[in-house]
Amino acid sequence: MENYFYDPEFVSYLDRVDGVAKVTGTAKFSAEYDLPNLAYGVMVGATIAKGNITAINTKDAERSPGVLTVITHLNCPKVPGYQPKEGTQNDPSKGFRVFTDAAIRFNNQPIAIVIADTLERAVHAASLVKAQYKKEVSHTDLDIEKKSGKALEGGAYKDYVRGNADAWKNAEVKIEAEYHMPLEVHNPMEMHAIIVNWDSNDKVTVYEKTQALQATQQSIMQAFALKEENVRVISKFLGGAFGSAFNTWPHSIAALIGAKKIGRPVKVMLSRDQMFTNVGYRPAAIQKMGLGATKEGKLTGISHEAIAMTAKYQQFTEGIVNASRSLYNCPNVFTKYKVFPLDLSVPTWMRGPGETTGAYALESAMDELAYALNVDPLQLRMINHAETDLEEEKPYSSKFLKEAYQLGADKFGWKDRHSTPGTLKEGEWLVGYGLGNGIFTAWRGASKVGVKFGSDGRLTISSGVTDMGPGTATAMTNVAAETFGLQARNIKFELGDSNYPPGIFQGGSGTTSTLGTTVFNACNTLKKKLTELIKDNPIFHTENIHIVKMEDLVFEDGFMFLATERSKKISFADAIKNAGIQQIEFVEESKGEDEKKNYSAFSYAVHFVKALVHPETGVVKIVKVVSSVDAGKIVNQKTAESQIFGSVVGGIGMSLMEEGVIDHRYGRWINNNFADYHVPVHADIPSSIEVLFVNKPDPILNPIGSKGMGEVGLVGFAAAVANAVYNATGKRIRELPITPDKLIS
Ligand code: MOS
Repeated sequence: MENYFYDPEFVSYLDRVDGVAKVTGTAKFSAEYDLPNLAYGVMVGATIAKGNITAINTKDAERSPGVLTVITHLNCPKVPGYQPKEGTQNDPSKGFRVFTDAAIRFNNQPIAIVIADTLERAVHAASLVKAQYKKEVSHTDLDIEKKSGKALEGGAYKDYVRGNADAWKNAEVKIEAEYHMPLEVHNPMEMHAIIVNWDSNDKVTVYEKTQALQATQQSIMQAFALKEENVRVISKFLGGAFGSAFNTWPHSIAALIGAKKIGRPVKVMLSRDQMFTNVGYRPAAIQKMGLGATKEGKLTGISHEAIAMTAKYQQFTEGIVNASRSLYNCPNVFTKYKVFPLDLSVPTWMRGPGETTGAYALESAMDELAYALNVDPLQLRMINHAETDLEEEKPYSSKFLKEAYQLGADKFGWKDRHSTPGTLKEGEWLVGYGLGNGIFTAWRGASKVGVKFGSDGRLTISSGVTDMGPGTATAMTNVAAETFGLQARNIKFELGDSNYPPGIFQGGSGTTSTLGTTVFNACNTLKKKLTELIKDNPIFHTENIHIVKMEDLVFEDGFMFLATERSKKISFADAIKNAGIQQIEFVEESKGEDEKKNYSAFSYAVHFVKALVHPETGVVKIVKVVSSVDAGKIVNQKTAESQIFGSVVGGIGMSLMEEGVIDHRYGRWINNNFADYHVPVHADIPSSIEVLFVNKPDPILNPIGSKGMGEVGLVGFAAAVANAVYNATGKRIRELPITPDKLIS
């Protein structure tokens, strides 16, 4: 492939370009912009899960010191593009638009915003808003709804059949099991926050926590009927998001309404408890697996049925059963996906959406099958390795899963595993080894970047993309440095502003692939333009070369060298100066993938986990993790490793701790705080986490050879832990999280 820059010897360890700003506190997050005359908004939530507001007392709040306004459905100014459709008011099945009707769709649904001159005054006044309700019976329990409720219908819920759906039932060896996964919440460290500043009646600037700069801009434009150039969204730094920051949530619209009404800038930051109910979560799921195989371990049938949940007012679907169609080489596959609407807030994408849930079931079931067959679990995966994608009937763009198995197994010491549970001990602790596979779609979308290269020798690339933490600016600086041949210190990658050319949302593991392609292409455009400037320069002329072409040159360290005679050179900066111009400036655009039409593209991971289980107390300690990943070429070793470290931490939370608990009598969260909703702390994380990359480029997906890695590090991890726990104890825990009570009961 032309312009293909993979160099197996080269691994980039470039430090995060924004690292110093982050650790010294100069990085500004959305809540941190200090605008003159800033007012503070606090959301008031409903205290019932379903019904209608019959009366709402805002008088005490309005009279409270410093209060500027209280907005409810009774006095909310009409927002032109944000009204319920004719005749759908108060119909909770027809969506949710904040302050447009009296209907309550979920507990803690915003029913008012109180805006005051200080945060403390706003918090106090918000506590004085009291609503009366006409309650209706709410349904929030998936276990009950799956029996007595009605699943949604439509194209997204069509069964998938390949070959014979029931083949697994007639297999020589089969297993059948049901797995439960609870609600989980993103809970990034940084709370969702927005600051709204109306520059005029039809022009607004917002500082918003968002993974999707353009989508945020579009939704504000639509709601308030504004022109694109009159909506500016700034989102320079995010303290994590994991999928919670794609939507323009109701509190953001409320802040926009409030700021407009009072004619002052307004900040709204959610409280931690509101983070559980107002910005999405990973839906709970109940999954039934059936696997069948020959005595030798060849899969003959897979059946995967998933039941999940959404809100009654809005549908959310994700690919829970998809991994079961493509991860293994199996001719007969059946998948079913049913979603029940509940009286809860709407779920949303959460790291490895769908696949993470599905792989927990599939990879646990594969372990159960390995035991039923008496085959090593790694061996079972090797036997069933898929050489082509049987679902799409296409070859893979690249697949180095076997290499990942090998790397990981060697590093982890998988051969030391005892297959019989309970036979390996360290002191009084039982020792278990487990593994789980991860898979996630790889893809490439369209994006634009703005490029400026000046006579000072500095390159600035800008794009309307945001970075929730993986290190997008660093990765893009890497790609530019390698492709253009310029030191990273002379490159600046600007992001987080909708005034820049539109980039892509950050999510679905597609940012580096998408934006990296455009940066790569931009650097090649730049090389062409520089070549054009010096093509007649006599310093490069030789007997054979009278007009210099790009192919004659090597671009390195900010210089163009004649490839055949390296003493003939000119700096990029001099090339510009000599041409008598200030800078080269242009916008580079890349379309989405075409190449992929004929290929199927995935990233892969395999997670090896060593767990200790205390037989008396049921305490599980993860003491060693090796995650081995095929994500194509690694653009930056440090940020890539950090992505997977983060997944491991998230995966430990998912497997051992995280569980949203709702009191179904009231449809109300019980553990909507960090004291009761447990996430890992430092002591829960093993000192030995090894991240390995196959680091072989994908030749199809994009010119840099990378695939995605934001999601795949989490997919399959929880199963690896559950499998390790089984290997240690002989207890198969089919319900996450694996808390001590389940092990000692
Ligand atoms: Mo991710 S769920 O695409 O933030």
